[in-house]
Amino acid sequence: MAKKNIGATLALYPCPVIVVGAMVNNKPTWTLVAHAGIMAHSHLMVSLVKVHYINKGIYENKKLSVNVVDESWLAKADKMGTVSGNKEDKSEAFAWSMGENGAPMIDEAKVSIECEVDGNYELEQFDNFICKILATYADEGVLNEQDKIDYHTFKPILFEFPTYEYFITGKSVGKCGKMN
Ligand SMILES: Cc1cc2nc3c(=O)[nH]c(=O)nc-3n(C[C@H](O)[C@H](O)[C@H](O)COP(=O)(O)O)c2cc1C
Repeated sequence: MAKKNIGATLALYPCPVIVVGAMVNNKPTWTLVAHAGIMAHSHLMVSLVKVHYINKGIYENKKLSVNVVDESWLAKADKMGTVSGNKEDKSEAFAWSMGENGAPMIDEAKVSIECEVDGNYELEQFDNFICKILATYADEGVLNEQDKIDYHTFKPILFEFPTYEYFITGKSVGKCGKMN
């Protein structure tokens, strides 16, 4: 069947939404991000518009946290995507704890990943931070008996650009490598 070419457009959705945390002037700040991804098996990439407030702290400390959003705190996370630290102090938006490596992490996030910035692939108006994963902190309630995150229990929120909506992961539709 012929497909219609709709142009050079972002079509890799839905994707998980995260709240990135970093220290700026000794206080935490938080920014909602959808454009993030996995690199190799050891790194994440976080794509942040250069003028965002949080970038200053990331340049300075080279530490950030990736807090995976679920429905229980989606409304608060959403606010971190509409208010900029350039205009309003967001340091008190969440109860937080300092990670073992110096990145602030949101207490109510069931999964938080602490990262060190290894590089920055600057492209157009974006800093694309290449982040080495240093530690992953998970609420016991989302772990299985092997201490792996159970995505039947933990349901990250997904986002898509065309309609600017949030989704939630659904049912399992197959076992990887065992579909034939
Ligand atoms: C659903 C959603 C996803 C977003 N994803 C990104 C993103 O991937 N990269 C980015 O730079 N900004 C993204 N933003 C915009 C920032 O979160 C927003 O401009 C924020 O206020 C910047 O905060 P800061 O200036 O305090 O860092 C997103 C906003 C929303 C609502």
